[in-house]
Amino acid sequence: MRAVMIANPKGGAGKTTLATNLAGYFANSGKRVTLCDLDRQQSALRWMAFRDSALPSITGYFGGNQMLFSLPKEPDWVVLDAPAGLQGYKLNDYLRVVDRVIVPVVPSVFDMAATEDFLNSIRNELRGRRGIIGIVAMRVDPRTRAAAMLEEFLQHFDVPITAYLRNTQNYVNAAAAGLTVFDPPRAKHRRDEEQWQPLLQWLAD
Ligand SMILES: Nc1ncnc2c1ncn2[C@@H]1O[C@H](COP(=O)(O)OP(=O)(O)OP(=O)(O)O)[C@@H](O)[C@H]1O
Ligand SMILES: [Mg+2]
Repeated sequence: MRAVMIANPKGGAGKTTLATNLAGYFANSGKRVTLCDLDRQQSALRWMAFRDSALPSITGYFGGNQMLFSLPKEPDWVVLDAPAGLQGYKLNDYLRVVDRVIVPVVPSVFDMAATEDFLNSIRNELRGRRGIIGIVAMRVDPRTRAAAMLEEFLQHFDVPITAYLRNTQNYVNAAAAGLTVFDPPRAKHRRDEEQWQPLLQWLAD
């Protein structure tokens, strides 16, 4: 079992979008995957309720109310969808048990400031394990000024940008139907699947 947490204290950064799509990717690759919702709003589990049972299956699990957090051992992958504002001992609890942390960042000054605080706050907890953090540049085209701004900002942190995901209604429409960009019909999402490849490679390494 390997576990990956999607976290960023900023609301609306794209955590649930990344978590659901990543779970969809593993399911479509024939892996046993559990989507562990840590958010009291339970957006990921609500999304699952819309998911057609004929699609590659994802097991849902609410992990937001456990005193001592432990992960299910049976799946190949556990994807954790963290809530906005996650910090302190709870955040550290999760950081201890996961193999990777994906941090979605929208390149706006507000989001970058919140991300800066977050990356600083987890620095101590991840001493010696900093390689487990990867950034996903969310809603951005790599050739734009916004992307350059984000790259410059991240230079201070020594964390890699593992993918650039464009701003597209594909994510919005898929979410509304309990789908991911990795579910059929895939032709419609070819460009998005391509953009995920470096992130998926980074997770597999
Ligand atoms: N790449 C994208 N292109 C277009 N829309 C997107 C993209 N990523 C996310 N969104 C939309 O942005 C909104 C916020 O995304 P999401 O719910 O994934 O963020 P979140 O970080 O989980 O928010 P919260 O902190 O409230 O849990 C959603 O409506 C989602 O559909
Ligand atoms: Mg969310």
